Amino acid sequence: MPLRLLLALAVWAGSSCGGTEVAPSQPRVQCRASRYPVAVDCSWTLLPAPNCTGATSFIATYRLGVAAQGQSRPCLQPTPEATCCTIRDVQLFSLAPYVLNVTAVHPGGASSGFAPFVAEHVIKPDPPEAVRLSPLPGQRLQVRWEPPRSWPFPEVFSLKYWIRYKRQGASRFRQVGPIEATSFTLRAARPRARYCIQVAAQDFMDYGKPSDWSLPAATPMTLRL
Ligand SMILES: *[C@@H]1O[C@H](CO)[C@@H](O)[C@H](O)[C@H]1NC(C)=O
Ligand SMILES: *[C@@H]1O[C@H](CO)[C@@H](O)[C@H](O)[C@H]1NC(C)=O
Repeated sequence: MPLRLLLALAVWAGSSCGGTEVAPSQPRVQCRASRYPVAVDCSWTLLPAPNCTGATSFIATYRLGVAAQGQSRPCLQPTPEATCCTIRDVQLFSLAPYVLNVTAVHPGGASSGFAPFVAEHVIKPDPPEAVRLSPLPGQRLQVRWEPPRSWPFPEVFSLKYWIRYKRQGASRFRQVGPIEATSFTLRAARPRARYCIQVAAQDFMDYGKPSDWSLPAATPMTLRL
């Protein structure tokens, strides 16, 4: 086959993304406030993922209230191709929901997906950080942690915490909480047993959802209580 024909075929295959240019699927949009009240962060996916992702860009806008007349503002994206955007200056305790409109635009067409939300309902902190264990005399085990760094004002918008722990070999976690402190003492820890402990954070007023569990902290093998 002549080289020129091969090149032409390659260009044809490359530019048409496999031959079919169908309109993109509706973006599946979700919003989350892990840094309440500073911002709400939204992200989306296209299912199935388009073959030629480079050619797809997104227009993300939001407005307060479901009425179509509401003023529409841009949700800030790092680039038009990015699959996330940020809303700042969120109105807190709004009675009407915000509606985010994400429109995927590519050569085959455009398609919009929507996510209604109220900031307080989409609160989900990041997990607590720096979870660590230290043995105390009298078969006690102290676990300490830090609030997630992404939570901007822990003194104003307090968090509460859940702790779950499991002795190595045990089949189930035991859970305690919620507590306001950033430490917890486990009493009657079994001598020489290894424990795995995780902590989750939740908005103090029960808005939204608890965080995912933190990375586990485990007692070192050599610990003697
Ligand atoms: C993506 O490309 C593969 C092969 O290149 C093809 O089999 C598949 O049908 C394409 N998918 C879409 C959604 O175009
Ligand atoms: C969503 O955004 C697109 C692009 O800005 C716009 O064309 C479309 O009318 C919007 N849809 C609604 C329901 O607001």
